[in-house]
Amino acid sequence: SQTAVTLSVNGVNPKHTISRHIYGHFSEHLGRCIYDGFWVSDSLNVPKKDRIRLDIVEALKKIQIPNLRWPGGCFADEYHWRDGIGPRNQRPTMVNTNWGGVTEDNSFGTHEFLELCNLLNTEPYVSANVGSGTVEEMAKWVEYLNFDGISPMSNLRKQNGRETPWKVTFWGVGNESWGCGGNMTPDYYADEYKRYATYARDYAGTRLKKIASGSNGNDYNWTEVLMKKVGRQMWGLTLHHYTLPTGNWGKKGSATAFDEQEYFNTMRNCLQMEELVTRHSAIMDRYDADKNVALVVDEWGIWTDVEPGTNPGFLYQQNSLRDALIAATTLNIFNNHADRVKMANLAQTVNVLQALVLTQKEKMILTPTYHVFDLFKVHQDAKLLPVSFSSPDYTSGNKKLPALNISASKDSTGKVHLTLVNIDPKNKLTISTSLAGVKFGSVTGQVLTAAKLTDVNSFDEPNKIKNVAFNGAKKQGDQLVIEMPAQSIVMLELK
Ligand code: AHR
Repeated sequence: SQTAVTLSVNGVNPKHTISRHIYGHFSEHLGRCIYDGFWVSDSLNVPKKDRIRLDIVEALKKIQIPNLRWPGGCFADEYHWRDGIGPRNQRPTMVNTNWGGVTEDNSFGTHEFLELCNLLNTEPYVSANVGSGTVEEMAKWVEYLNFDGISPMSNLRKQNGRETPWKVTFWGVGNESWGCGGNMTPDYYADEYKRYATYARDYAGTRLKKIASGSNGNDYNWTEVLMKKVGRQMWGLTLHHYTLPTGNWGKKGSATAFDEQEYFNTMRNCLQMEELVTRHSAIMDRYDADKNVALVVDEWGIWTDVEPGTNPGFLYQQNSLRDALIAATTLNIFNNHADRVKMANLAQTVNVLQALVLTQKEKMILTPTYHVFDLFKVHQDAKLLPVSFSSPDYTSGNKKLPALNISASKDSTGKVHLTLVNIDPKNKLTISTSLAGVKFGSVTGQVLTAAKLTDVNSFDEPNKIKNVAFNGAKKQGDQLVIEMPAQSIVMLELK
């Protein structure tokens, strides 16, 4: 059936910019994200620079990824950066205790990561080890990466083949310090943060953006304590929220076999992001009314059971139309909170959790989630345009969720973009849109949808789900009328 919606978009004097860093990604030493993902064996028959897989690089360049977080995650708090520099055959190994107990050979380290960022034309976001590292270790890593003069660390960097500093600005100070990053209390962590941050120096020409480890979902007290004790001494404070289909860590639910009831629950858990961002922002507002400290959602996405037969420690999962609807909905939430959310990172880029890219030996596929980032890249660094509407319900039994979510922006060339998501798998929407302060001659668009919520791109059928031209939006006078299919994501361009 068809439901009518009235929408208004306000293009008059937009205030906030949607930071491109909301469209960031995350690559941990976990499963097949780095090893056998970005970083492959010399014998694999794919285009490579050194051992970096260039077909992945090309795909990610197309969606303009603005930053890449590394080396973890939980791995970061056991990582000692000095093990990952110098001649590869002399690097020590370590056990990746968090992820499958595999032996890490440290062949992918600081230089390799920064070369990957260079090829991707993306900004590095380095997470330093607070849980099992030292203040000195982090301080020296900063010096190694950023100091341009003569010093022990810059000399070592040059000896290892890199003359000029990389000037890395984004620095995570620990990760999940309430859990795998050291099981700390917020008070203890706030003090630790200050010690580590004090000695992470701003060398000439590089002002660090230090990011404190933030709350686990709805732990509002963590945010309160960090804002009270650390406040402006951090550039950003993180938030992690994963969407679990069942809500149960013991049995999360399958990535590909789920019914509508489970889909409904998954979307409800995904939409919790709206409440989390709103409530953490409200706490931050009390200490920082000018919104100088960024809320950095540097881990988000759907977390399902692993694909049958794969290593449970490797977190390899397929990616369906449901994942695309989650990604688009979450990105709309972040855009609409652009005043406070200035950075976010989907977990994780390749072969892990809600991945953009899956690989199987030489083969590579782009997931439905990848195509969402392709659609939404138009919002990067554009001005947020407020939208108002009252969403129809998506109902399942006696429970309901808002069926429609939207964000809109105006880019530096004056083009206006709307991204609309209809999570309702049964009902289409007819949306009449008035646009104050927006003049446009034509509208074009793209749509991402599929016959079933469980549809995926597979190695046998890699292009089953992809963006196609959308002809369901028409200009009628000053208005825009959009015929929005069920379970779909639409991006419109008005110019
Ligand atoms: O993304 C997988 C893991 O989830 C990360 O290592 C950790 O920070 C979080 O618990």
